[in-house]
Amino acid sequence: MDAATETEHLTRLFAMSPDLLAAAGFDGLLKRFNDAWEAQLGWTRADLETKPYMEIVHPDDRSETLNQITRLSQGETIAEYVCRMLCKDGSVRWVAWSGGPGDEAFYIVGRDVSDRLAMEHELAQRAERLQGTNAELQDFAYTASHDLSEPLRMVASFLGLLDRRNGDQLDERGREYLAQATSGATRMRQLIDDLLLYSRVANEEPRREQVDLKALVERVLQFLGPAIDENGAKVAVGELPTLEAEPSQLAQLLQNLIGNAVKFHAPGVAPTVRVTARRTIGGCVVTVADDGIGIPEADQERIFAMFTRLHGRDEYAGTGIGLAICRRIAERHGGRIYVESEPGEGAAFHTLLPDAPTVLL
Ligand SMILES: Nc1ncnc2c1ncn2[C@@H]1O[C@H](COP(=O)(O)OP(=O)(O)O)[C@@H](O)[C@H]1O
Ligand SMILES: [Mg+2]
Repeated sequence: MDAATETEHLTRLFAMSPDLLAAAGFDGLLKRFNDAWEAQLGWTRADLETKPYMEIVHPDDRSETLNQITRLSQGETIAEYVCRMLCKDGSVRWVAWSGGPGDEAFYIVGRDVSDRLAMEHELAQRAERLQGTNAELQDFAYTASHDLSEPLRMVASFLGLLDRRNGDQLDERGREYLAQATSGATRMRQLIDDLLLYSRVANEEPRREQVDLKALVERVLQFLGPAIDENGAKVAVGELPTLEAEPSQLAQLLQNLIGNAVKFHAPGVAPTVRVTARRTIGGCVVTVADDGIGIPEADQERIFAMFTRLHGRDEYAGTGIGLAICRRIAERHGGRIYVESEPGEGAAFHTLLPDAPTVLL
């Protein structure tokens, strides 16, 4: 290619570029610049040829821009230097500059990043707000449940005292009232304990170790023994691997899931529960399946929210916090939990636990 053709090619590319391209003099004036300057900043070619370029840099960014130019004059290159440029109509654009040194002039390429920065800024602000709300909520859950414990203990113990000391002086109705009050206090105890558990799981980073899932499930089943017997449930446990998790949190999760599987069946029907696990790429899926009442499609996501229950307390006891805790535990392990179910045919809760937490770059 001869020199003339090559110049022709370069000139056309120069003119076409959507980025701001220029050769800028150390004397403060632009020597050569492409059409993007006019198109994006609104200044005319005549303006740009006569105005010192520093005058179209935002006043607050001028001293740093001067530093960057000094670096160029010393033969350094610069990359991704962001400063604000003034447009003719008074508006401001954020431009990211790369630059390289030359003899009489230095060469610069600028890309308008205003939209990107605005979006990043908005995202960062939203994340910050969310984090603040989350932390507040967790604090609130902890403080509320903690501070409610003490007065509740008092109510419960005086109810107990009243029953022991004066129970026989009460008539039938009086004893019924006392029994109702006591059961209310017991229920409140359960809610507070669950809330405390939730806020602990929400706040603590799980300390992972190798867990023998088989032994862990055995312990959970022992703990749930009374509930299993009461419901006449059969629990089948498959081959279970060793996996990486925080043992106490994993036990909590399984206790909630198996507890639910044992509980949510039609009256008079003895449930069968299966606990299985299989390895997947980079992790393990633990499944607790039952043949109980199942969950309608429309409710399969919201049951994981705090306090959501699909039935009255007279049908099935509970606080509605169990699955919220399970989801939190799964997420804390970098995994997730979801349900598959046909109403009337049972439900299968799958918990995916990755071997090691994925590092997001
Ligand atoms: N295995 C299951 N079969 C049918 N419904 C279930 C099952 N597990 C959970 N659910 C539904 O999800 C709701 C929320 O569960 P959970 O948070 O553990 O609360 P709780 O057990 O205290 O009611 C339950 O009240 C129930 O309606
Ligand atoms: Mg539950």
